[in-house]
Amino acid sequence: MDLPIKEHLKKIARVENSAEKRLDYTRLDKNEGIAVFSEKFMDILKKEITPEFLTAYPEIDSLQKKIAKSLGRETDNVYVTAGSDAGIKAAFEVFVRKGDNVMLLDPTYAMFYVYAGIFEAKLVKTGFDKNLSLDAGKIIRVIEEHKPKLICIANPNSPTGTIIEPEEIEEIASSSFNAGSVLLIDEAYYPFYPVSALGLTGKYPNIIVTRTFSKAMSLASARLGYVAGAPEIIDALRKVRPMYETNAFAVKFAEIIMDNPDIINKNLEEVKRAKKYVESELDNMGIPYYKSYANFMLIDVGSYEKSVEIGKAFRVRKILIKSAFRDDNLRRCIRISIGSMEQMAGFMKNLKEVL
Ligand SMILES: Cc1ncc(COP(=O)(O)O)c(C=O)c1O
Repeated sequence: MDLPIKEHLKKIARVENSAEKRLDYTRLDKNEGIAVFSEKFMDILKKEITPEFLTAYPEIDSLQKKIAKSLGRETDNVYVTAGSDAGIKAAFEVFVRKGDNVMLLDPTYAMFYVYAGIFEAKLVKTGFDKNLSLDAGKIIRVIEEHKPKLICIANPNSPTGTIIEPEEIEEIASSSFNAGSVLLIDEAYYPFYPVSALGLTGKYPNIIVTRTFSKAMSLASARLGYVAGAPEIIDALRKVRPMYETNAFAVKFAEIIMDNPDIINKNLEEVKRAKKYVESELDNMGIPYYKSYANFMLIDVGSYEKSVEIGKAFRVRKILIKSAFRDDNLRRCIRISIGSMEQMAGFMKNLKEVL
């Protein structure tokens, strides 16, 4: 039988999640936060898993309040989602009709392209220069010309690690407001880069900010994120929510992590230190890299072929990194997550051996 699969979905290519057991490797390929939780902390989490907890549907009220309070906002400014990814998908569901223009930086977070395909948007891509710079004037000209329904800007952006400065974000916010566009600022890498567009959501009702617990909060397994914005926009996003926004484990663990900011602050410090260490080692070796504002980094290894070769060699050494980028500007690069000092020392030792 010919299944009645929507035609446009047949064109969408999805990369399978790795079939390998990633836990058997040092994982430097997906920019997860890597805070090592103590046994004592794990015991606190485990104590929460009672039979009552397991058998009840999840409740998000207290987490939603806690997040809103941490942002200095009300609960109707926050929509809790299963990873920030689900918040991004909700924005496409609410704002993008077939044939609508959606503006993306290019390259950017892979799922933006996938959702544009699922919701049959016309992609308007704004590319980076050779040195990965991108001026706001170019973005604004594209917004004025194409009047996209939705503009997605990851800040810092992935995979480039670049940022758009706050003044420029405000100019983009103003031009997107005038163009009638919704501006989604994806802050997955907050607070590795501790500057936010959240302050603009009061001034511009067309802005939403997405954040995640997968990176700085080191809870990638739980799938938890949120969208913050004006109540009208949050209310619209809630219309497309699944029956339950996320699961009870994610809610509970997130609340406990938020109550223990020391763990997260220690992680942020460790990543900062480890990034400096990698930068100075690469400087000493004369290997170029791009400045990154997030917990990952692009290293220029000279050619696409070399990046593939290095990716394979690391895999044999039980270390996962990202290599073989298709984008013209990134083809020569590998990308690594910045983990602990110990993990980075291991990475540098292996890099010296495989180069
Ligand atoms: C820029 C960006 N946005 C969003 C996400 C999604 O994160 P999550 O769904 O785990 O919250 C990622 C994950 O890699 C990302 O790099």
